[in-house]
Order: sequence, then C-alpha cells, then structure tokens
Amino acid sequence: MKFNPVTPEAVAAFTAIVGDANVILPTSADDMLRYTHDETEDLRYTPEVVLKPANASEISLIMQYCNKNLIPVTPRGAGTGLSGGALAVHQGVILSTERLNKIVTIDERNLQATVEPGVITQVFQEAVIAKGLYYPPDPSSRGSCFLGGNLSESSGGPRAVKYGVTKDYVLNMEVVLPTGEITWTGANVLKNATGYNLTQLMVGSEGTLGIITKIVFKLIPYPPQNIVMLVPFRNEEQACEAVSKLFMAGIVPSALEFMERDAIEWSGRYLGIEVNLPEDIQAHLLIELDGNDMDQLFKEAEQVYSVLEQFDIDEILVADTEKQKEDLWRLRRNVAHAVKANSVYKEEDTVVPRAELPRLLHGVKEIGARYNFKSVCYGHAGDGNLHVNIIKADMPDEDWQHKLPEGIKEIFRLVVQLGGTISGEHGIGLVQRPYINIALNEVQLRLMQGIKQLFDPNGILNPGKIFA
Ligand code: LAC
Ligand code: ZN
Repeated sequence: MKFNPVTPEAVAAFTAIVGDANVILPTSADDMLRYTHDETEDLRYTPEVVLKPANASEISLIMQYCNKNLIPVTPRGAGTGLSGGALAVHQGVILSTERLNKIVTIDERNLQATVEPGVITQVFQEAVIAKGLYYPPDPSSRGSCFLGGNLSESSGGPRAVKYGVTKDYVLNMEVVLPTGEITWTGANVLKNATGYNLTQLMVGSEGTLGIITKIVFKLIPYPPQNIVMLVPFRNEEQACEAVSKLFMAGIVPSALEFMERDAIEWSGRYLGIEVNLPEDIQAHLLIELDGNDMDQLFKEAEQVYSVLEQFDIDEILVADTEKQKEDLWRLRRNVAHAVKANSVYKEEDTVVPRAELPRLLHGVKEIGARYNFKSVCYGHAGDGNLHVNIIKADMPDEDWQHKLPEGIKEIFRLVVQLGGTISGEHGIGLVQRPYINIALNEVQLRLMQGIKQLFDPNGILNPGKIFA
C-alpha cells in the first residue's frame, strides 16, 4: 500500500478541524512521546501528527481528508494495548479518542449506559456501582484503559469467567467509517435479529474497520458480597487441573486466576508486598466468589475446599479484610508490569478449552526447555486463557530475533491442536500478525479481508495490523 505523507497543507487542514491545541507534531518531542508506544514490549513508532478531535463530526472530517489523500490513520485509546494495535507503523496520523471522555447517560430504567470511547474503564465501573449497577469487564489496566480500546481489542479480564467479556455488554455503537460516514451498528435492545450483527463485527476489529465514537452498554445489578482466597499448589499442573474440577463440581467463581511462582513473587517485589512463599510452592490459584448473600458464599467456599482437598496444596489464605483482598488483586493485576520491569519480554495470550490447561502449561515449559527460554505464566485460568510471558534475560539478540519465533510458532501450533487459539483478549495487532495463519485458514482470512476491503477500500485505517 502506497500512502502519502502528512504535508504542511494537511496539518493546516487538520488544525482547521480540531484547533491548534489538539494537534501535536514530532517537533514537540515531550508531548509526542507517549503516542509513540503502547504497552507492547519495547516498540516505538513516531507518527507524523497526533490529532485529538472532540466528537464524531470532527473525526468524520479527518477521515474524509485522509481517505481522499491516502494518509494512514491509527486510532488510539489510552495506549495500554499488548499487541501493538495503537502503534503508527506506517506513520501518518494518530487519532486519539482521549477527548471523547463523557459518560453520556446511565439509564437506570433500562439498565443501560451510553458512553464515549475515551472513558476510563474503572471510572465507568465506579459511576455505575454508585447507582447499584455493575459493568463487570475489568482488564488489569482498568485504572487507565479506555472503554473504546476494550471494545476494539475484545478485552476480558478476571471477571469474564462468570460475567463474560466486553463484547457481552455492548448493545450498540456509533462509528465513523474510513470514508467519513457516521452510522450506528445496531439498536439499544437486548435482542436483535435484524440483519448481520455489525456491532459484534466492530468488537475486536482492532481499529481497522471504523472509529468508535459512542457505545451503548447493558448493565446488571451489582453483587455486593465476595470471598477472595489464595490457594498454594505444590505442583503447577495440578493447579491447572483443579480449575476444570471446580466447574465440574458446579461452582461458578467470579474469578479464577492462575499465577505461577515467579508471577506472584515478581509482582510482590515490584509492589513491595511481602509474599514469603514456602520453597515447595510452584503456583497459586486466586479464587473469588461473589453474590448477594454471605451465607450462600460460605457454602460455596466449603464446596471449593472439598474439591481442592484432592490436590497437593498448602494452607489456603482467605482474605479477611478489604485491604487484604485489595493486596491480592494488586499482586495479580501487576504481574505484567512486574515482568516488564524485570526484563525485555514477549507476551503471548494463549487460550484453550479450560480442561486442556494442564497440557498447555506442560507444553509451554517443554518448548521453553528445547528453545532455551524462561517463561512466566499466569492468567485467567477459568477461561482457559494463559498469558505466557517469554523472558529475554540473557538470551543473545540473534536467538531472540530468529530462533524464538520458531518456539512461539510451536506454542501456537500446540494451542490450536488443543482446540484453542492464539489470542484470547489482547488481539493480533502488530506482534501476532506473523502467526495469524496458524490460527485462521484461507477461507477465514479471505472473508475477513473481504470485510476489511468493504469498510476501508483504500486501506487507510490502522494499516499493518492483523493480517500478515
Ligand atoms: C492481565 C493482562 C495482561 O491479565 O491481560 O494481567
Ligand atoms: Zn489478561
């Protein structure tokens, strides 16, 4: 694809649309810096210009100009992505949604909310909790990530195991297409059998089909009670086995997270929280039960204990203060940051049917031994979603660049062989692009690329992502 550069005339046209204060050029190096990267590895790409429009009409004008002049546009939320979706790999425009940050309405009669895409996930969660309502999807970055980004990447998080992922809460969206047309994708209803599901097509499209400018979510009543426990296992594959056993016993936890030893230790060190693990502990499950009635939750906890008794575990820690719960969750949510602070790394987002988790973990370690890499594994075990962090440490650059991708291919082939796929919640973006045909066949890729062509005939929207 041949794109055109952002000329001084283009900058003048953009400035006329969004105003001087909302245009950043590379000459303002300090302001530009944060738009040159997201949270993916240590990758950096500097766009020719960053634009911060205020609304759908301004975005429409920008898209019309860029479509006509073949200037690439990379949409960006908060930049917390882990697959490189927000990186301007073909330069051009970074279109930031940070000024579209209003909660438009919380409709308590219908249990729905309308928001702009630049609202921070946790801000939205807290606003609806204040009304006794719940928006469950909670990626680890919820304190800084945007709802628009969550939709674009089809984000999940720990609560997905009981409540579903971001896609399960979106009813309707307003989007600006690459041509500049503005449209809604569906209707504000809980059921919709009217034509193709354009709403779900937009979810997880990683900013390649359109720019989300409004979102209508459904909400549920907030469950106010919970129990949080940390279960230490002497054998990490047993920790993975316990996961499907809990579901087979009829238990539906609101979170069921796996952390291998290094994950929790590194996170503790990173946060300055003492974890003091006995020598023989290889992994933990972090289990949360939630609901309305504490007596009911105690009964469920008894059921959990009786399943776990079958395994070689040490003493279960049940958090008895809010502070302790919060610390356990901080330990879990900061694993990715802790790994990042430790070494150059690559994060793979494998997902398999949950009962295959022990075989996946075993396979990852076996492949690591053959390719000589260390991995720190953790993730949403209840969803069969294992984050595999591959640590560079002192691996020679040559091996990191040329040998490791073969090891990653082996991991992904194993995932597919186990009935899974190569990303559960981080997306394909830039970094998983070389591996996409391990997960998708030619027919699937042809259909997807046909859809892309229909939405974006000139290929200007987030080029260089998803497809190899
Ligand atoms: C997590 C992010 C990395 O689970 O997906 O912490
Ligand atoms: Zn995750």
